[in-house]
Amino acid sequence: MERGTAGPAASAPFSTLGELERAAARVVPEDAWAYVQSGAGDEDAMRANRDAFRRRTLRPRALIDVTHLDLTTTLLDERVSAPFFICPMARHGLLHPEGEAATARAASDARVLSVFSTLSTRSIEEIAAAAPKGPRWFQLYLQPEFAASRNLVERAERAGYTAIMLTVDLPVLGPRDRLAERGFVIAEDAPVGSGDEILAPDRSPKGALGRYSLRKDAAATWNILDDLQSITHLPVVVKGILTGEDARRAVTHGARAVLVSNHGGRQLNSAQAALDALPEVVRSVGSDVEVYFDSGVRRASDVLMALALGARGVGIGRPVLWALAVGGEGGVRHLLSLLSTELATDMALVGRRRLSEVDRTLLGAPRW
Ligand SMILES: Cc1cc2nc3c(=O)[nH]c(=O)nc-3n(C[C@H](O)[C@H](O)[C@H](O)COP(=O)(O)O)c2cc1C
Repeated sequence: MERGTAGPAASAPFSTLGELERAAARVVPEDAWAYVQSGAGDEDAMRANRDAFRRRTLRPRALIDVTHLDLTTTLLDERVSAPFFICPMARHGLLHPEGEAATARAASDARVLSVFSTLSTRSIEEIAAAAPKGPRWFQLYLQPEFAASRNLVERAERAGYTAIMLTVDLPVLGPRDRLAERGFVIAEDAPVGSGDEILAPDRSPKGALGRYSLRKDAAATWNILDDLQSITHLPVVVKGILTGEDARRAVTHGARAVLVSNHGGRQLNSAQAALDALPEVVRSVGSDVEVYFDSGVRRASDVLMALALGARGVGIGRPVLWALAVGGEGGVRHLLSLLSTELATDMALVGRRRLSEVDRTLLGAPRW
């Protein structure tokens, strides 16, 4: 099991995300690596996410003055330096001792939005203190008692988070064959900073998260959006939408934005690629609310592709954890800078000087 220690020791620079992934595979202990990398079931949805990008192409325009490029945008009125943001992911502490504090500082300095999970290793308040300026949103997993969800939302609001991202694609935890076959147990002492009340003792012999599993509200329906808005002034973003119908319902119930995602292929093995769901969601609600995207983004041209299909913001998942493992705060800083540089290069290559010029006319013929 000992393949190395996740930590700042191996702060080797990386020049591509491929190199970063290989470096992370060398330093992250095997169980934690399986947890980060795994998808649901046979991992078909996870592979489909990448295939959906490979299938699509871009249609570049030439002889446009691209000496000055502007990558800035706003996400729910928050001015950010780039259209990509850091997805909410559980337990950054598995990858680096400073956990979310390191991620928060790197993102805040780069003025990149980061979203922090209910299952963060550091507490809601510690993350806020690490990077008080943000921009920073809080991701909510609904708790079986609304009072517990309310407590988390109120803590986030008090600590200066500026939106609540409600994840709706996890009424139950999807099957993780890769982990089940390993008899996977995350270090029993891996703490969750939001407080032990959000975890229940896991009685299954091979617990997906070790000793405890996340408490979920499998009974929740769309009215929960109304309940949430009755207890907070913060805008609510709904994460985990894969259909135009659900996007419409989210908007009807007051969502200010929807995030098209299949959870990085970690929930439903047969789910369609998130990128394939993006056009129907944009058609359904794109003129009413902001539409974001995540799942399978591995380079800046993927960001550009999602923007061309109508996303306003694009989430980066696993690569952030790789960077954290390889270089802590510096690793995440380097990743964000690498993505910005790559995005600027790609925009120059397709002849688009600002994000408002990225639209469907950028989409080329599919490769297959
Ligand atoms: C290790 C790991 C933990 C995650 N934890 C959460 C979580 O706590 N809440 C959540 O809404 N999504 C969670 N996700 C899903 C991400 O927010 C995001 O949807 C996904 O990682 C994007 O796909 P990508 O990793 O291919 O970029 C997690 C993903 C990973 C890889």
